[in-house]
Amino acid sequence: PLRTLKYKNGDEQPAIGLGTWKSGKGEVAKAVEIALNNGYRHIDCAATYGNEAEVGEAFEKVFSEGDVKREDVWITSKLWNDSHKKEDVIPALKQTLSDLKLDYLDLYLIHWPVAFEKGVGFPDKDEQYYSLEEVPIIETWEAMVEAKKQGLVKHIGVSNFSTNKLEDLISKTDEKPEALQVELHPYLHQNELLEFCSKHKINVTAYSPLGSGDRSEAMKGEDEPSLLENPIIIKIAKKHGASAGQILINWAVQRGTAVIPKSTNEGRIKENLASSGYQLDQDDLAEIDELDDHFRYVTGEFFVTEGNSYSNIYDD
Ligand code: A2P
Repeated sequence: PLRTLKYKNGDEQPAIGLGTWKSGKGEVAKAVEIALNNGYRHIDCAATYGNEAEVGEAFEKVFSEGDVKREDVWITSKLWNDSHKKEDVIPALKQTLSDLKLDYLDLYLIHWPVAFEKGVGFPDKDEQYYSLEEVPIIETWEAMVEAKKQGLVKHIGVSNFSTNKLEDLISKTDEKPEALQVELHPYLHQNELLEFCSKHKINVTAYSPLGSGDRSEAMKGEDEPSLLENPIIIKIAKKHGASAGQILINWAVQRGTAVIPKSTNEGRIKENLASSGYQLDQDDLAEIDELDDHFRYVTGEFFVTEGNSYSNIYDD
């Protein structure tokens, strides 16, 4: 059976999900269909990935075929930064539901702790520049709480929040976020953040677990280290007769997080789900501990323009 993360009401989020960021419109529906027909029960989406309508076609097809039921799949999506004002949250959510052809989400996340002006899309370094809005996060959060009350989503949470930002939000509400999605991999362990989440019963999902090598060139830093080609990861993979990708995914699962490797390749979609059939041992874990150097593939630096209030988005 797939490992799951448990929520207070008994709901379970399967630990391994399919990521859809960077999955092209022409390939994502097929990827989701392959995933669901091969045992995935968790799909991670977001409005800003620009492909929710295609993902929705796969949901409609697979659920109507009858082998996989909607209620057996955990579906996450995320509120884009241009819809943080209280009157914009539920309409943005309803657009996502309509694109995904669903009547509820399992989990809805505030994608970033940053508000843009209406209509401002996913950042691209060449673009000058994001018109920012100052929307207090509690305003956005209260609309998320309302979405849950209305039954549009079963659980609510946030993404790309630091410990400080989580603490701040928790201090202002009785409805704690139930989930956090952040970048996590052997170069970025975030142990303190994980401890904080465990204390507050916030379930964590790890993104970019494989290093997101298919990001646009504009998003890549110079001389980025590779996770999939890291010699330690490759050595551990050989030892367990697994692939490097499987080691990275298994590591995330063993730490108690969910993890959402993206693939549009049938073989790798299957390979990734089959990652957690063995335990990494103490030696493996100690070697992977050595790799932590606080390195981020997704820096959030797109949001930082001179003088704005997001100059240190991660508070580190
Ligand atoms: P593809 O979609 O062709 O499989 P991340 O999840 O960190 O964003 O990484 C996604 C990238 O990793 C994509 O380029 C994806 O390519 C590739 N990928 C996915 N699964 C594997 C795997 N098991 N081994 C190697 N590369 C993989």
